[in-house]
Amino acid sequence: MQAFEVSAPHAFAVGDQPEPQAAPGEVVIDVAYAGICGSDMHIIHGDNAFVRFPRITGHEFAGVISAVSDGVDPARVGERVCIDPVVSCGRCYPCRIGRPNVCSAMQVIGVHRNGGFAEQVNVPASNAHRLPDDLDLDAAALVEPYSIAANVLSRMGPQPGDRLLIIGAGVIGLTLLQMARAIGLEEITVTDILDERLASARELGAGHTINGRSEDLEQAVLNATDGEGIPLIADAACIPAMLPAMLRMACPAGRIGLLGFSPTPSDLIQLEVIKKELTLVGSRLNNRKFPEVIEHIAAGRLDPKALISHRIALAEMPGAIDLLENHPEQARKVLVKISS
Ligand SMILES: NC(=O)c1ccc[n+]([C@@H]2O[C@H](COP(=O)([O-])OP(=O)(O)OC[C@H]3O[C@@H](n4cnc5c(N)ncnc54)[C@H](O)[C@@H]3O)[C@@H](O)[C@H]2O)c1
Ligand SMILES: [Zn+2]
Ligand SMILES: [Zn+2]
Repeated sequence: MQAFEVSAPHAFAVGDQPEPQAAPGEVVIDVAYAGICGSDMHIIHGDNAFVRFPRITGHEFAGVISAVSDGVDPARVGERVCIDPVVSCGRCYPCRIGRPNVCSAMQVIGVHRNGGFAEQVNVPASNAHRLPDDLDLDAAALVEPYSIAANVLSRMGPQPGDRLLIIGAGVIGLTLLQMARAIGLEEITVTDILDERLASARELGAGHTINGRSEDLEQAVLNATDGEGIPLIADAACIPAMLPAMLRMACPAGRIGLLGFSPTPSDLIQLEVIKKELTLVGSRLNNRKFPEVIEHIAAGRLDPKALISHRIALAEMPGAIDLLENHPEQARKVLVKISS
């Protein structure tokens, strides 16, 4: 079968690979669509500490079950599914308290084990979520990025009527914007440093956008909130140096959701955290958010197709990687069509 494999940092190619076999409890997926994500770019650059090479990457994908192994209902063959990439052990402390997305022995599909940039991939049957009949497979490939947004928002404990500031209007910032609207938040401000990205945010319903390069973000947020600050801040830019500004922009009792994987330290001013009793939460991948996201898409409360900027074939992946590296402002989600 054809697959996109990263053999070492900066070394990748589309080529022939052996077809995967399903182990007990697993299914084989004929992949229809897979999305390219910033994390795939980190793997290609050798910036992902978890990955082992060679690796077929891709953790955002949907397709059809073509084979099942022992312990899986054979009636699942032919089922249209999308794949939650979080494979957890079920035994460690986080798994026991219902936090499998930070499992001590986590295997992320497309990172620790082979992923979806391939004609076929084997995954645990319980990671393959059945799709409603009218949910298209291209839209379903975006369930995973929405699950990132759903997870961080749930960690932040939004209350009805809360204002939200989203920092960064890349695909994750835009999924956050759509997800926040889907759960009923109305006053949403998005900041970025690229006008093209802010235009996307306005198109998708941001009430207010701020270009942090040409405007004073902190002042704009304080002005818009009569000096009080903002209760919800979601960080989808993941610039470690922005944490002090986030602490200042948060209102008392505010909640800040962090998504960054950078090892660079941030300054944390305890006075800001304590005097306002702020809550800072980390969010990694998703904790069983797939059913909720699928329901929102099926109900029309999320619009995945609005996030897709490019549709390419598997053989075109090296060119798409070049585009994402050199002209990120021209792209939203690049979707790889593998079969249909
Ligand atoms: N924790 C998780 O599970 C998880 C999952 C997916 C992605 N992420 C992280 O989320 C981040 C966003 O992902 P993405 O795919 O949307 O990336 P992206 O690079 O497309 O988007 C980041 C955006 O932030 C903007 N930005 C840069 N500096 C800024 C600043 N000073 N102020 C405001 N905006 C600024 C960029 O212009 C860009 O539009 C990445 O760092 C990624 O690693 C985390
Ligand atoms: Zn991703
Ligand atoms: Zn575990």
